[in-house]
Amino acid sequence: MKTIVIVCACLALVVTLSRDLAGESAGEALFKRKCGICHGLDRSQSKVMSRQEWAATIRRMRQYADILTDKEAEAIAEYLFERYGHYED
Ligand code: HEC
Repeated sequence: MKTIVIVCACLALVVTLSRDLAGESAGEALFKRKCGICHGLDRSQSKVMSRQEWAATIRRMRQYADILTDKEAEAIAEYLFERYGHYED
């Protein structure tokens, strides 16, 4: 029984580590770099929005500061939707 628990713990650790090693997506990296300048990242992380709502929010942020290219804005929107998104019902 003890062995099983230890094997499971090791497997969980390997899975966690390999996920970290796989690294973050471009959208996630950009989000962390650009979206915490004026307010905390938690401002976004505490929300769950649809694809359109995320896109609209990012459009609004871009009016406050011109710090993103269209491509970067798209990558961030994609990341936020995948991680903190919900589908329209
Ligand atoms: C130039 C400063 C600035 C930058 C950069 C910025 N924000 Fe904001 N953000 C604001 C301000 C000001 C508000 C409050 C007013 C508002 O909601 O429009 C806000 C509010 C928000 C909110 C809360 C909106 C709501 O409906 O409650 C979210 C989510 C958000 N920002 C996400 C982001 C994301 C994602 C990025 C990166 C693409 C980003 N912000 C970059 C200034 C900024």
